[in-house]
Amino acid sequence: MSQNGTPKPHALRTAQPSDNMNNGFFGQDIISVRQFSPEKLTYIFGVADEMETLVRRFGSADMLSGKVLANLFYEPSTRTASSFMAAMVRLGGRVIPINEVHYSSVSKGESLPDTIRTLECYADIIVLRHPEVGAAQIAADYAAKPIINAGDGIGEHPTQALLDLYTIRKELGRLDGLKVAMVGDLKYGRTVHSLTRLLSRYNTEFYFVSPPILRLPEDMVAEVKARGLKAVEVEDVHEVISDVDVLYVTRVQKERFSDLALYDQVKDYYTVDPELMKMAKPKMALMHPLPRVGEISYAVDQDPRAAYFRQMENGMFIRMALLAAVLGKA
Ligand code: NCD
Repeated sequence: MSQNGTPKPHALRTAQPSDNMNNGFFGQDIISVRQFSPEKLTYIFGVADEMETLVRRFGSADMLSGKVLANLFYEPSTRTASSFMAAMVRLGGRVIPINEVHYSSVSKGESLPDTIRTLECYADIIVLRHPEVGAAQIAADYAAKPIINAGDGIGEHPTQALLDLYTIRKELGRLDGLKVAMVGDLKYGRTVHSLTRLLSRYNTEFYFVSPPILRLPEDMVAEVKARGLKAVEVEDVHEVISDVDVLYVTRVQKERFSDLALYDQVKDYYTVDPELMKMAKPKMALMHPLPRVGEISYAVDQDPRAAYFRQMENGMFIRMALLAAVLGKA
């Protein structure tokens, strides 16, 4: 395991003289947003800006030519899986996509550690999405090569939180002192968990908007308050809409409910529509990690404050920056 400055031994053994081993990411796992100091965030955002310029000017580069990424997804994904693939390919690397584990030896009962140890024979870096909290850490403990957590159950989704934070900075020009409402499934939404942790570094005022059964876990509310930050829990988005700089909307995570009758009670609990947006500030960012299943009406898509399509494009730039940094080429 390595997440705190020391590259994994394999990275040191195979380092090239041209590799940047001092970028704070080289040869490391990316498991949690807790690993990201303000300096590391600034660094990754700077590299992501460069990646955007590169993509707009040239489309691709050969920085990671010869490198192979294994994209191992035990849960469905459109954006995360394809943006990691696009990121690798645009930097000249190649991808082994395993997004249907039913067709791999996982369906024969192979364990996560053995699957990881197999893939690292073939790849230089592994991106993992898994339904269990802590799975990415387990994979990282077994792997000699870097693991990137692309979502571990209801735990964390660090690369999403990085792209979310990057998007907020781009949309609003700052990160300090923002009023942020997290709306929807705050209990099971891993993107909310990771982004709340990251935003807690800044002087953020939080509004947590959800039905009672989907409230943010108590320990997370306590974590925010322990930093001296304002954390207000409300049920109705109308109470906060006119105040906030960021409205971060999420889907109710149907797959996490053991009782679907409970899901039915809350699934249609809110919709952001043009009427609601009339009450919002003229300069604010409406965000969503996507997929949406009714929480934001299509009629809002043309609103200049609707940032969710820009947000998903930013995901590719952030993931290009992370891959290049971990593989020592940034
Ligand atoms: C999110 C996820 O998988 O946690 N999607 C994503 O990565 N953009 C959000 C969700 O599934 O609701």
